[in-house]
Amino acid sequence: MKELTGKVAVVTGGNSGIGAAIVLELAERGAQVVIDYVAHPEAENELERKIASLGSRAVGVKADISLVADIELLVSRAVSTFGQLDIFVNNAGIETRTSVLDTSESQYDKVLAINLKSAFFSTQIAARQMIKQEAGGRIINITSVHEDWPMPGNTAYCLSKGGMRMLTRTAALELAPHGILVTAVGPGAVATPINLSTMKDPALMQKLDSVIPLGRMAKPEEIAQVVGFLSGGGASYMTAATLFVDGGLMHQSPGL
Ligand code: BGC
Repeated sequence: MKELTGKVAVVTGGNSGIGAAIVLELAERGAQVVIDYVAHPEAENELERKIASLGSRAVGVKADISLVADIELLVSRAVSTFGQLDIFVNNAGIETRTSVLDTSESQYDKVLAINLKSAFFSTQIAARQMIKQEAGGRIINITSVHEDWPMPGNTAYCLSKGGMRMLTRTAALELAPHGILVTAVGPGAVATPINLSTMKDPALMQKLDSVIPLGRMAKPEEIAQVVGFLSGGGASYMTAATLFVDGGLMHQSPGL
């Protein structure tokens, strides 16, 4: 039997980038998965097919996680389709690459709603369901090195990730008595759609690679494997912590 056989997971933003890799990783480990998406149903369908070929099951749900009612829909679909909820991964995220001087009110609201408000209410709604089941659970927040590390020119994003850091810490303490473990994974630069403009610019790529001690961006699977670990028995004593998966990026030294 695979490690996550019998477990049910929800992954937000599950049909692209890091989210799609997490969906596949959890399914490979035996979990049944609810794939949240907002666009590109064909990518979601393709994932469902791949998961069926792995011998597991997935269902796609079109939901805008910046709305509490849509988060409720994700959890209720997990329960109505697969009978329960064990793992909730707050993965969906956007960035505007704008500074404190030029971020508009609507850009600010959108980034904070999709990245942070969604993680807060998903934690609340997922935890209520897990408490009802009385079998604990895992809530995993995909943050960023920028939960801690400033990124000039991406202020609202940094703010949202810093908020997710404290959500992880605080919710972990509140939910510990229920056996619900709350952790975060903080990726560095990953080859996904969010970094498309950098990836298309060879000079920028060279600059980026030169500041990453491991010398390259991560593949989405390299982040997903860590989420797989945090979902399983090997991480039974981990809560309130972030695992940074950044190739050493946050600790680079100018070598002076
Ligand atoms: C951001 C990327 C950035 C990377 C490393 C990620 O969280 O989304 O835009 O390249 O961090 O700084």
